[in-house]
Amino acid sequence: AANERESMYLVSEYARDYFHKTMLNSEQGKAIGLSYFKERGFIAATIEKFQLGYNPDQWDAFTSEAIRQGYKLDYLEKTGLSIVKEEKQFDRFKGRVMFPIHSMSGRVLGFGGRILDSSKKAAKYLNSPESDIYHKSKVLYGIYYAKQAIAKEDNCYLVEGYTDVIQMFQSGIENVVSSSGTALTPEQIRLINRLTKNITVLFDGDAAGQRAALRGIDLILEQGMNVRVCSFPEGEDPDSFSRKHSKEEIVAFFDENAKDFIQYKANLLVEEAAGDPVKKADTVRDMVESISKIPDAIKQEIYVQECARIMEVSETVLYNTLAQILKKDK
Ligand code: CTP
Ligand code: MN
Ligand code: MN
Ligand code: MN
Ligand code: MN
Repeated sequence: AANERESMYLVSEYARDYFHKTMLNSEQGKAIGLSYFKERGFIAATIEKFQLGYNPDQWDAFTSEAIRQGYKLDYLEKTGLSIVKEEKQFDRFKGRVMFPIHSMSGRVLGFGGRILDSSKKAAKYLNSPESDIYHKSKVLYGIYYAKQAIAKEDNCYLVEGYTDVIQMFQSGIENVVSSSGTALTPEQIRLINRLTKNITVLFDGDAAGQRAALRGIDLILEQGMNVRVCSFPEGEDPDSFSRKHSKEEIVAFFDENAKDFIQYKANLLVEEAAGDPVKKADTVRDMVESISKIPDAIKQEIYVQECARIMEVSETVLYNTLAQILKKDK
């Protein structure tokens, strides 16, 4: 019900303030949480803007305080902020720095919490569970802060992680959102599609990032959007890259390295299939699969020509393959 959801927003917003104040005002918060963010290069204004926080490594400090303040355990549990077990209640996020996740209109839907000591066995990031207000597949981290810049620049940078968004923002590039490590979904792309038709994918410079970028491409094309992909040097992500460069250098790097999806994908596949005719045939089919997702016939034709050139096959072969795929999909 609508008032249940409102109660869940309110307790989430209380949690955001609690984690934020705890980080800025308590001894532990300053010594551990705040210094962590400072070491990552986040300045005070950035920490303020993104409402970053910290919850100390204690069993139930947050949950107990929330209950003292009159928030109902029921909503603490429904949002996943607290865990109830054998009539005891605990904080879900312990000893983690906290990233509030906002809706398009700025309500707090959930959190990502990062451990500080990567040598620990726990998952690096712990996220809020699915709930009536938090649907992971429908959310883009940073959209609330980025929406105006996306419309103004008529382009959206899509990154993998929380800190990628924040660091780019701090560098002065504000049209950036994150899929937060999940496989990109049609709902997430639709959120961007309302603001611009142009997406530049900036996934991490590792094998996982490359695979994720390839998977995302077809989904973006299906919505009639234009997609460019920019690769990073091995081991870099937009966060680490932005820290080392000025805004002008970052933008210049994107301008130089962002390739239209067809160049990006074809070059990648051609490299993989080098000297293997069977693999090359699969590769051609894979490219044409992507082209078949484009709703606009004129664009399709342009991409067929481009693809033929890059992959060194005839346009006829590509058109025949395209016709086969389109027929099969009907
Ligand atoms: N992620 C997650 N759970 C994990 C690992 C990652 O939810 N165990 C999500 C987070 O949203 C993270 C994103 O996937 O921001 C990208 O993962 P990764 O590149 O590993 O993390 P970074 O964002 O680079 O984090 P950091 O720089 O803090 O190490
Ligand atoms: Mn503040
Ligand atoms: Mn990664
Ligand atoms: Mn990363
Ligand atoms: Mn990173």
